[in-house]
Amino acid sequence: MAPSSSQIWPIGGGKGGTGKSFFTGSLGILLAKLGRRTLLIDLDLGAANLHTIIGVSHPEKSLSDFIRKKAASLEETIVPTSIPNLSLISGAMNALDIANLAHEQKAKILRNITKLPYDCILLDLGAGTSFNTIDFFLLSDSGIFLTAPEPTSIENIYRLIRSVYFRKIRQVLKTHAFQSLAEEAQQQNEKATVSNPDLLLAMMKELDPEKGAFLEKTLAAFSFKLAVNQFRKQDNPNLGELVCRIVQKHLALKIDFIGNVAFDDRVHNAVCKTTPFLTLYPYTQTALDLRECCSRLLSEEAASSAAQRIAE
Ligand SMILES: Nc1ncnc2c1ncn2[C@@H]1O[C@H](COP(=O)(O)OP(=O)(O)O)[C@@H](O)[C@H]1O
Ligand SMILES: [Mg+2]
Repeated sequence: MAPSSSQIWPIGGGKGGTGKSFFTGSLGILLAKLGRRTLLIDLDLGAANLHTIIGVSHPEKSLSDFIRKKAASLEETIVPTSIPNLSLISGAMNALDIANLAHEQKAKILRNITKLPYDCILLDLGAGTSFNTIDFFLLSDSGIFLTAPEPTSIENIYRLIRSVYFRKIRQVLKTHAFQSLAEEAQQQNEKATVSNPDLLLAMMKELDPEKGAFLEKTLAAFSFKLAVNQFRKQDNPNLGELVCRIVQKHLALKIDFIGNVAFDDRVHNAVCKTTPFLTLYPYTQTALDLRECCSRLLSEEAASSAAQRIAE
């Protein structure tokens, strides 16, 4: 992965309709209002609609132009929005562009995203655990997972978190030539696999304390977040915290809950009017919740980068 000076936040969810695009667009608006140069990228390949949510009716350019080589660089596909500091790369308008997205094209998009000169880059990802979604998630250590407070959505988000995390561990093991150490650990204890990261790490630390400590530090740098959207009064406000505890227990992965976002029928009105919800209804519970999520995200991020600096 190329070094990036931008903070990249991929936003994913197990199911379509959870509100990923709504959440991504709203978060982008809030970050831009805080003075951060922010770029939204619609990577919901095949179902791109982030532009509508942030009030851009007909984006002049899109990711399709880059895929079809009509635009010489990814930067050329960026369009402004009516909100100062907020720009957009709209999603591919033609599903065929995406169905045919070759591995090299995806790698090229990934490489180019990390070079874009922004303070914050938010990636609106497609639902589910497809390779495309996971590969875009792997661009950053700081993905945000969004779920609705329903058992089906929770099940799917758990699966997505697990897929992303295990894929990241596999990537780390490969990149840092840990493969043979991991294999040795597995030979000694067949349960010490990537699907059992706690045990695998303990065994690797035992076999090679130096490499084990390095791996531990790398895994500890993952700073995933969870938010619950479409939260209704009758829902359990502690559900998000509970999911984080389950993830911690079963995957040995620390994940921070950043808040519940209230369900509000007027989100639908805002989408129909192609005007951002935060512009039309800034004083609602939902708007308040979104601001709270944004501020928790920023404070968690500041805390984890400070912790990382101390560890280095
Ligand atoms: N907090 C919310 N309250 C009410 N409706 C919401 C909320 N978040 C999203 N929606 C609605 O849910 C639908 C799906 O949202 P969207 O952001 O497009 O989901 P996704 O990108 O996850 O597929 C939209 O019609 C939107 O109006
Ligand atoms: Mg979407």
